[in-house]
Amino acid sequence: MSKIVIISASIREGRNSHRVALYFSSYLAENKLGETEILDLKSYYFPLFSERLKYQKKPLASATEFAEKVRHADGVIIITPEYNGGYPASLKNVIDLLTDEWNKKPVAICTVSDGNFGGTQVITSLQFTLWKMKAWTVNAMFPVPKVTQSFDENGLAADKDTSDKRAAGFVGELLWCIGAKAKMKN
Ligand SMILES: Cc1cc2nc3c(=O)[nH]c(=O)nc-3n(C[C@H](O)[C@H](O)[C@H](O)COP(=O)(O)O)c2cc1C
Repeated sequence: MSKIVIISASIREGRNSHRVALYFSSYLAENKLGETEILDLKSYYFPLFSERLKYQKKPLASATEFAEKVRHADGVIIITPEYNGGYPASLKNVIDLLTDEWNKKPVAICTVSDGNFGGTQVITSLQFTLWKMKAWTVNAMFPVPKVTQSFDENGLAADKDTSDKRAAGFVGELLWCIGAKAKMKN
C-alpha cells in the first residue's frame, strides 16, 4: 500500500481547512487506498525559514523528522487555505526548508476557502513553486468552497457520496502517478 502524507498547511487559530485533511485521512483509510499520516504544520509550528534544512548546522529534530516523512512518502496531498489569493507563509516555509525531498515527489493540491471559489487562485503560484522544486504535481484539483458547510470539525462531509466521488478522481490521479513512478524505477 502506498504511503501518503497529508500536509495540513493552516496554522491559524480557529482554522477550518484542517477539516479537509481529516476527511482525506479517513477517505484513504476507509477505502484502503494508502497508509496515511497527517503532517500538521500547526503542531510542528516551525520557526520562520532561515536556511534550507540540509545546510543548517543544528537542525530542529522536528524539522528533520518532517523532512524524512516527506522523503519516505510515495505521495503527498497538500491541503492549503487561500489567503489573499495565495497560499500561507506556513506552507512556503516548509517548501523552502526541504530540497531533494520534493524531487519527483507526486503531489496533489487541495485548496480550501470559506468563499465560493474553493481557493483556486492558489493553484498557479503553488504549482509553480513545486515545479521549481522538481515535484510532480498531479493533474487534478480538489477545490473546497464554503468549507464549514461542506465538512464538520471531524472531517465528516455534509454530502459524503459527492465528496467521495470527487475524492476518488483526485486521489486516483495521485495513485496513478505513484504507480507510474514505481514502474520507472523497476
Ligand atoms: C489572512 C486571510 C486571508 C484570506 N484570503 C482569502 C481569499 O483571498 N480568498 C478566499 O476565498 N478566502 C480567503 N480567506 C478565508 C479562508 O479561505 C478561510 O479562512 C478558510 O477557512 C481556509 O483557511 P483556514 O484553514 O485558515 O480557516 C482568508 C483568510 C485569512 C485568515
